[in-house]
Amino acid sequence: MGKSFGKSYKIEPEADIALIGLAVMGQNIILNMNDHGFIVCAFNRSVDKVEHFLANEAKGTKVIGAKSLQEMVLKLKKPRRIMLLVKAGKPVDEFISKLCPLLEPGDIIIDGGNSEYKDTQRRCKELKAKNLYYIGSGVSGGEEGARHGPSLMPGGHVEAWPHIKDIFQSIAAKVDGEPCCDWVGEDGAGHFVKMVHNGIEYGDMQLCCEAYHILKDALGLSYDEIGDVFQEWNRGELSSFLIEITGDILKYKESDGQHLLPKIRDSAGQKGTGKWTAISALDYGVPVTLIGESVFARCLSALKEERVKASEVLEGPKNMRYEGDKKEFIEHIRKALYASKIISYAQGFMLMREAAKLYNWKLNYGGIALMWRGGCIIRSVFLGNIKAAYDKNPDLSNLLLDDFFKNAIHNCHESLREVIATATKLGIPKPAFSTALDFYDGYRCPVLPANLIQAQRDYFGAHTYELLTKPGEFIHTNWTGRGGEVSSTAYGV
Ligand code: 2AM
Repeated sequence: MGKSFGKSYKIEPEADIALIGLAVMGQNIILNMNDHGFIVCAFNRSVDKVEHFLANEAKGTKVIGAKSLQEMVLKLKKPRRIMLLVKAGKPVDEFISKLCPLLEPGDIIIDGGNSEYKDTQRRCKELKAKNLYYIGSGVSGGEEGARHGPSLMPGGHVEAWPHIKDIFQSIAAKVDGEPCCDWVGEDGAGHFVKMVHNGIEYGDMQLCCEAYHILKDALGLSYDEIGDVFQEWNRGELSSFLIEITGDILKYKESDGQHLLPKIRDSAGQKGTGKWTAISALDYGVPVTLIGESVFARCLSALKEERVKASEVLEGPKNMRYEGDKKEFIEHIRKALYASKIISYAQGFMLMREAAKLYNWKLNYGGIALMWRGGCIIRSVFLGNIKAAYDKNPDLSNLLLDDFFKNAIHNCHESLREVIATATKLGIPKPAFSTALDFYDGYRCPVLPANLIQAQRDYFGAHTYELLTKPGEFIHTNWTGRGGEVSSTAYGV
């Protein structure tokens, strides 16, 4: 049917979608699409991988392959849908420029890699000029998610969405029958939201680490006992993939009967998406402090040799053990983690709101929470509560102001204070817990000491300030009687 290898060799368009990039993620997405009845044409820069894939992992499936981009394009039904799952950066641009001359107006290129959202914004513009559609989609959930149901966050040219919606929502993870995939927004919105997801993931992981550190060093619990605590937490409002795997990791023993975790070098790596989130937070002036601290905590951990030397020189408190009721304190830690998590997500959504304003994206915040509800690394019960908050009020200005989260924070902030105070006295670092509380106390503070900053700036640099009674009107004071009456803006320094 689709193939005729006679004299007049002709290729019938039979594939619903092509996928370029046969690393594990690409292979698993293809097999997932195949499971859902779509015919996928596979391609890879190193073409021998196509044959190998068809003969092995894709054996017995309906997946077809192509030996060249030309052949791949001929095998695609129109409008052609081509998904890239290649290394972010130059490889994406190279494939796009090779594909463009082979495509027709209305065809669709989808980038499912970990691209920077600004690259996606640029590519959207470039392809629009060629009458092609472009989609940058966050794909989360790792290899397992790709194979059995990832979280998908597509953004870009909305005209292309109806043509890929069915494939994307079919292969995505489902929670209560709803796919963890919906349209995110214009141009780079999909990749931006994926970036924030990864930033939040950094925060969640750091919070788990701080809880583990305090349980281990302040309470002196064993690895198995800490594992039990995490497993217990996973049965309540903290229930999530990361809490679950933390419990597993803490209990994991090698064949020699010893725990593996204490043997792992305490120096964290990073690929950059947490850092990108922190950078955009700084760029757009949004206090996403918990993700920022989590990135810095990884940086500090990476200074392993320096830390070991410093530990021999620099003193801390003599007592490192908590003397009070352990059970009670474990509950304080649980609540501290929950409160900090709420604050971290509130900050992440603040960042998305600001970017949406800047780039004119109409982000569907409840939809984003649902996309993260399953399939991805930060999946949790808690995201269902966030979805409910935005369903109730799509214009919610801050998650902390939603009744559910307000009550949750009211119920937990004393515990957060208790944990921070105790860890501080014992000399155990807890940067994410601390910054969560500092943000909370700052956010609910009607008068911050920033009036002094304004006065200082005006004093030494004539930067001007506003009076509370006259906002919008910038004035300068000659504080010393020696400086001039002219404000800095007047001479544009
Ligand atoms: P390869 O198998 O030919 O290396 C993940 O690394 C995927 O990105 C692989 O499919 C890989 O193709 C592809 N990739 C990596 N670097 C690339 C490049 N510079 N150009 C094109 N594809 C690349």
